[in-house]
Amino acid sequence: MMNKTAPSSQVLINLAKETRKKAYAPYSNYHVGAALLGKSGKIYTGVNVENAVYPLTLCAERVALFKAISEGEREFDAISVVTDNGGSPCGSCRQALAEFGLDIIVYIADGEGNLIEETTVRDLLPRAFGAEDLPERNS
Ligand code: THU
Repeated sequence: MMNKTAPSSQVLINLAKETRKKAYAPYSNYHVGAALLGKSGKIYTGVNVENAVYPLTLCAERVALFKAISEGEREFDAISVVTDNGGSPCGSCRQALAEFGLDIIVYIADGEGNLIEETTVRDLLPRAFGAEDLPERNS
């Protein structure tokens, strides 16, 4: 649960909006910024990072998520995603986030920082594939 001192949706959105300026998107020219709030209270930002080999591109949400995981954070309250037109997180990012919690709140905002939609990973990815779908392992 988010407590009273947790950053507001607008704080998360403003951070993603600022971070978005650092997006590396020379091919699509579609700049994305994300800010992921960990249960520790720490916020991890991310931008999309494109490549001349197009499929190597990483989305802003996964950059933020992988930064967080690599720093030891495993549980999250919310993520904000800012694009010019308030675009929705892609399917790959939905699945990547689902691994760490279907209840993560997702704030989708436009380039001005206006909240377009507040939703959850669960709502964005119904019937998500998860660890429980895999056969039991003998470790
Ligand atoms: N992109 C993201 O960063 N996040 C999304 O959820 C949607 C797409 C990026 C990938 C690529 O650099 C550009 O936006 C156009 O697809």
